[in-house]
Amino acid sequence: MRIAILADIHGNLPALEAVIAELERLQPDQVVLNGDLINGIPFSGPVIDAVRQRDWAVIRGNHEFYYLDFGTERAAPGCEDPKRWGQLHWLVEHLNPAQGAYLALLPDERTIYLPGLQPLVVAHGLPGRNRVGFHNDTPADRVAAELAGIPFPNVVSAHTHVQIDRLIHAPAPPDEALVPPSPAKRGFWRLVNPGSVGMPLNGDPRAQFVVLEDAPEQEAPGGWRATFHRVAYDRRPALAAYEESGMAAAGGAMTQLFYWQLATAEPEVIRFFRWAYEHGLDPDCAIDDAFDAYRLRAGRAAYVRERDPLFAAH
Ligand SMILES: [Fe+2]
Repeated sequence: MRIAILADIHGNLPALEAVIAELERLQPDQVVLNGDLINGIPFSGPVIDAVRQRDWAVIRGNHEFYYLDFGTERAAPGCEDPKRWGQLHWLVEHLNPAQGAYLALLPDERTIYLPGLQPLVVAHGLPGRNRVGFHNDTPADRVAAELAGIPFPNVVSAHTHVQIDRLIHAPAPPDEALVPPSPAKRGFWRLVNPGSVGMPLNGDPRAQFVVLEDAPEQEAPGGWRATFHRVAYDRRPALAAYEESGMAAAGGAMTQLFYWQLATAEPEVIRFFRWAYEHGLDPDCAIDDAFDAYRLRAGRAAYVRERDPLFAAH
């Protein structure tokens, strides 16, 4: 049994099409899409349409909720501010009701039970929390604390846009009598992140995903072997679409930062916010001022330009 797991497309149709072509070649038995189909790159509607046509198991991520919660009391604080959240405003105007209804009906997590195989717990963050994320250097005891309570050894997360395959040991139980069944009894969790199809943040701009294949426990703890894939594709149509679609004009600094992420495959949004806070600026309330200062003083724009295939073409 081979299961391809994709995540974090973020509206990048050219990246999704490249991955679909690779899946045609690999012919997995099933495809699971672990959240964040939309937002960030200007083809969110076409991405939903492409996914809806397929017999894939799809799960919602936090970016689906930015859209679904917009205009409700659940919305992110301050999201009416067009300077800070213009990209979301643009998205709300550009998804049609059928596309929105598709997102509205998606589940937030799935546990995949297959006859004779270890279950796979799949959630964008973790079950019940779609904004929890892990990196390769997140301390193991912190990861173990977050995974506590998940009753199966195999956990597939996403959200951080980096490929991960970690064996996380469960802390020794204080009292043997209190030991629940697996995985504490087995002593570990296997934590996998497929990486991001549309906006990787591990320094490699290729479209990324993972294929899990069942394997003997002695060879693959948890009973699944992970093979990571990275597919090269032409990013120029996605980068050019920012201007052509009007998203760049509507989305301001945040959209510029997402464009930068697509160009560099590095966490430009987090880097900017961190820099702004360190320099006493308030990017949540005055993002334009903070971004102007960042551009002027941090020298990041030149770094991005060197890695931007659209810029290199001119
Ligand atoms: Fe994401």
